[in-house]
Amino acid sequence: MYLDFYGLKQVPFSITSDPQFFFESSSHREALATLLYGIREKKGIILITGEVGTGKTTLCKALLDKLDHNIKTSLILNPFFSSVQLIQAIIEDFGIRPDKKNKLALINNLNNFLIDVTLKGGGAVVIVDEAQNLTPNQLEQIRLLSNLETSKEKLLQIVLVGQPEIIEKLNQPRLRQIRQRISVKYNLSPLREEEVAEYVNFRLKKAGQADVKILPQSYKIIYQFSKGIPRLINILCDRALLCGFAKEKKVLDEEVFRICVEELI
Ligand SMILES: Nc1ncnc2c1ncn2[C@@H]1O[C@H](COP(=O)(O)OP(=O)(O)OP(=O)(O)O)[C@@H](O)[C@H]1O
Ligand SMILES: [Mg+2]
Repeated sequence: MYLDFYGLKQVPFSITSDPQFFFESSSHREALATLLYGIREKKGIILITGEVGTGKTTLCKALLDKLDHNIKTSLILNPFFSSVQLIQAIIEDFGIRPDKKNKLALINNLNNFLIDVTLKGGGAVVIVDEAQNLTPNQLEQIRLLSNLETSKEKLLQIVLVGQPEIIEKLNQPRLRQIRQRISVKYNLSPLREEEVAEYVNFRLKKAGQADVKILPQSYKIIYQFSKGIPRLINILCDRALLCGFAKEKKVLDEEVFRICVEELI
């Protein structure tokens, strides 16, 4: 691999959603601020949308790092289960061991946990990623969880994160109840053209500041290819590093990127 060649400690443009590499672009920063506000102010259900590869999963993980320690979290990355299994997964990610696995017992366990957390001055949030895949039944189940409350306040904040198709899904008449509960929304945008170089250099630095130079004209090509979508930027830059390694070049110019784009499309 090219790590030694460039003096890197880690792969800089991996396609996993590692929060250690979280770059606060203007849109990611606004999304985080929106989430922190919605959770702190107990706004009920928060909806975050974003096109494929814009960084939704990475944002979810970055959020976990930013929340106060007295906020308990449950992160569901792949909600491909039945609605009972969904509650079970939520409970288990909170670290609760359910007594029984029927729906009523699970909800009781969750309720007791939430009351306990709230009495201690904390809060709880469930983050469901890939929420565009939730079935109407699961969405209805989530709405019911958002009903858990004491006479004073809601016990559980819910964050739904998904591709824009989720909006169409929520527009179905039978889902109007959950739709009405969504009081905070944010749509994550790709990086702006002027943020691309910053993003690329941020990741290189995080990976151990490489002995590699990307010439300024290259960023135009990176932007044209990726339209600012981080996953596409990563795919292209990883390829360019590999290409440079094969040619024993530590200075990557427009030409290298142009060849890589041709190979990728
Ligand atoms: N703000 C960011 N900082 C650093 N890397 C990012 C950021 N946003 C996205 N990435 C990178 O882009 C890639 C795709 O991100 P991620 O998997 O979070 O996107 P996604 O929106 O969840 O995609 P999908 O719609 O396919 O679920 C990952 O490699 C991730 O590390
Ligand atoms: Mg994702």
